[in-house]
Amino acid sequence: MNQSISSVAVIMPAAGSGQRFGSDQNKLFTLLDGKPIWEQTATVLRSHRAVKRIVMPISDRDRDYFVSVGAAAVASLGIELVSGGAQRTESVGAGLNLVIDDPAIELVAVHDAARPLVKPGELDRVFERASQTGAAILASPVTATVKQTLDEGQSCRTIDRSTLWLAQTPQVFRPSILRQAYQRHRGRPATDDAELVSRTGAEVALVECSAENIKITHPGDLAIAEALVNSRKQNSKTTNHDE
Ligand code: C5P
Repeated sequence: MNQSISSVAVIMPAAGSGQRFGSDQNKLFTLLDGKPIWEQTATVLRSHRAVKRIVMPISDRDRDYFVSVGAAAVASLGIELVSGGAQRTESVGAGLNLVIDDPAIELVAVHDAARPLVKPGELDRVFERASQTGAAILASPVTATVKQTLDEGQSCRTIDRSTLWLAQTPQVFRPSILRQAYQRHRGRPATDDAELVSRTGAEVALVECSAENIKITHPGDLAIAEALVNSRKQNSKTTNHDE
């Protein structure tokens, strides 16, 4: 780890509705290994020595939860709450407003609250690359065969996967680069922050990460996350036992 990176602000958007998860409440309140998903994610981020601020955009619908049930964890993890918006970019923009003028911040990282399985080493590598280039994201190479259909599945063709990557988070930027991307954003839909940055002409570097950094989207993803947590616990027991 590049010891010179000492000050990262993380924006951890948590204001989604989680419709695809099929639950009445925010999917991030679902327990994973005994803690809500958002708290698991924030705990990994807070453990990184360079993370100085964690700003969490939340929806107004969830504010009661975060000031009651979630309040103790919010306080102990030093999370700053802010009102998010209807689109993910609006939520991140609201978080950005809170940190952008902080002179102590060297990098701004955006990390989905729904990705609790990011590894400390992956944070190290993407922070380091962003400090060198100004913009870097975690991503994993596409391993599946990818088909494209233009007629709703009547026919298809194969897309060459050798140049394709799946974007993940954290997506990490020098504050001035992300600020410019958000200033120029005029509401054209974008599913991630790297897309907004690319539109300004800035290059975004890819940092390879494991496919374990899943975003919990559908109910089945929770079962996968639980299996990954258990296997990591098992591995760490074996390692400790061997030592
Ligand atoms: O819906 P999805 O899981 O793709 O959203 C990714 C992350 O962005 C989630 O952590 C979700 O809570 C957050 N989000 C947000 N504001 C929105 C939509 C999503 O903060 N309007």
